[in-house]
Amino acid sequence: MTKKRALITGISGQDGSYLAEYLLEQGYEVYGIVRRSSVSENQDSRIKHLHGLIETFYGDMLDVSSLTRIITQVQPDEIYNLAAMSHVRISFDMPSFTIQTNALAVLNLLEAYRTIVPEAKFYQASSSEMFGNSVEEDGLQKLTTTMLPVSPYGCAKLLAFNLVRHYRNAYNLHACNGILFNHESPRRGSNFVTNKVVKTAVEIKKGLREKLELGNLESYRDWGHSKDYVRAMHMILNHETPEEWIVATGKTHSIRELCEHVFTRLGMDYKDYVVQNPKYMRPEELKYLRGDSSRIRKVIGWVPKYTFESMLDEMVDHWMLKINNDEKIDV
Ligand code: GDD
Repeated sequence: MTKKRALITGISGQDGSYLAEYLLEQGYEVYGIVRRSSVSENQDSRIKHLHGLIETFYGDMLDVSSLTRIITQVQPDEIYNLAAMSHVRISFDMPSFTIQTNALAVLNLLEAYRTIVPEAKFYQASSSEMFGNSVEEDGLQKLTTTMLPVSPYGCAKLLAFNLVRHYRNAYNLHACNGILFNHESPRRGSNFVTNKVVKTAVEIKKGLREKLELGNLESYRDWGHSKDYVRAMHMILNHETPEEWIVATGKTHSIRELCEHVFTRLGMDYKDYVVQNPKYMRPEELKYLRGDSSRIRKVIGWVPKYTFESMLDEMVDHWMLKINNDEKIDV
């Protein structure tokens, strides 16, 4: 039997690398698009261990000809669009680039998909940032919750979300949206709050740093583990009907609670080390996320294996081993 072929944009990111591993385990041929970076180590640090098992191509979401060339060559059965400018605060500094990469480029990819491999299945990495500050009376965000984004990132993701729905309906494509709430791991970029807190706390513990500078400590997020969430992506795409799905833990914690858990596990009191720096505040903040994932659990049978605590503990253990007393990692 011929193997299924999956093409992952953003394969060198946290989710892309875990998804590649997961699809290899499922017997897929895995292909990925990698953007050229001036520091070549940055291009493949998360996928180095997959060398020889996956095939990567240079390309860029903003370069239509690269997308067309790669899709024509790979002829994928499944396309996972995980490429994005993924940092919400930085999207305020680069709004135009964010809209181009996270929205207009998705249109390029959808066009290439529809014209070259319309029989393939398409997954779009949609985000809980699309909800903005809308919350239902029971304290949850659902598929029916009004989407009123509060960042250039969220606005771009909402446009892409609607384009995917529209392409599905207009051209009868198997195109799906996974609305994923925050998801983390030791592979998370160091400037997202979970990994920033964990790495800096470990450095403080090892005497390499004195303070942890953060922005808003009072916002709440629904945090899961990236490994659980890439499994959901595959399940969503392989469900018989292409739809929208929410992937979340249904539990929410503040940044303050996050600090408390991490510092306590390391035998410290976060109040002695955490200081606020306005540099990390956002012009408009999304204050509270807690997703209703009851449908994907009931209909598809997705169950996360990690909790907020076990996910953070894994990250703490990872950085305790990785960071040596003589080397400071820049956050
Ligand atoms: N990054 C960062 N750095 N965030 C901070 C800091 C800081 O120093 N201090 C406080 N925060 C707060 C932010 O204001 C926000 O309320 C929360 O921590 C989480 O920030 P991030 O970890 O940067 O994630 P995010 O929620 O903005 O975005 C992530 O989740 C989205 C899904 O909801 C990203 O992964 C997005 O790509 C994803 O779509």
